Amino acid sequence: MDLISFRDLDKGTVEKIFGLAEDIDRQLERKKVDKLEGIMATLFFEPSTRTKLSFQSSAERLGLQVVDFLADRSSLKKGESFTDTIKTVDGYCDVMAMRHPAEGAARLAAEVAEAPVLNGGDGANQHPTQTLLDLYTIRKLKGKIAGLNIHLVGDLKHARTMHSLVYGLGMFGAKVTMVAPKGLELEEHMVHEAEKRFNFKMESRDSIDLKDADVLYVCRVQEERFIDKYEAAKVKKEFTISADYIRKGKKDLIIMHPLPKIDEIPPEVDAMPQAKYFEQARNGIPVRMACIKMLLEG
Ligand code: NCD
Repeated sequence: MDLISFRDLDKGTVEKIFGLAEDIDRQLERKKVDKLEGIMATLFFEPSTRTKLSFQSSAERLGLQVVDFLADRSSLKKGESFTDTIKTVDGYCDVMAMRHPAEGAARLAAEVAEAPVLNGGDGANQHPTQTLLDLYTIRKLKGKIAGLNIHLVGDLKHARTMHSLVYGLGMFGAKVTMVAPKGLELEEHMVHEAEKRFNFKMESRDSIDLKDADVLYVCRVQEERFIDKYEAAKVKKEFTISADYIRKGKKDLIIMHPLPKIDEIPPEVDAMPQAKYFEQARNGIPVRMACIKMLLEG
């Protein structure tokens, strides 16, 4: 069993992961965590702070040991192929967490490795553990997901976090409003696939209006995925969530962001009670611990 795309999950499995994560959250509070044995390898071929460190921290908290593959200092530099690298690391670990700039890389790794593979992001494609921790955070802070008005704002075309999240929100019956700069909208086929599968309709708007929003989920412009960097710089200016926007929204609005945030959320917003993105990042621990446990225990 691997965790490659949110699309591969059914609601029962997602709920099982939430249940496990809640258990683990309680164990963490009591500082008495049920231990596992084994080794996790982390293979990050793209920059990462939260995903890599929270996978490593989760593994350690579960009693696993961690070996870390560093692409820049590996035999990749001598010309070794991706699949040879994966087959080799497979012999050194019991579970792998990986991130790669190419879409489909995690799926390919899962095909060649015997150890379960957790996808920590493959290009602009999918980021399933991020969506699990996003949904877990919404449920924890709002008590439910169904029926909530969730506004997705930013570069919906390139953000893998959003690509996974629309499935999760559809699965749990949220009402989704998408607000993206022109040209950076979620691709039609993704909209249609999610709508058809979960029998719901997502709304599109071209400007930010938070009046009816329960959750505002923002992501940065994914500059590294633009062919034209000038274009990225231009759209970056358009979508800044000012404190004023937030003051006009509901009192119990929550603001989420997978992080890193660059210019889209000014620092003054961090001090507002609505800002929940660092708490969201912390939820990466129980959720990733739950995912690792589920894969290792089959
Ligand atoms: C995201 C990613 O790498 O896709 N970060 C994360 O995993 N928390 C979001 C981003 O880079 O914008």
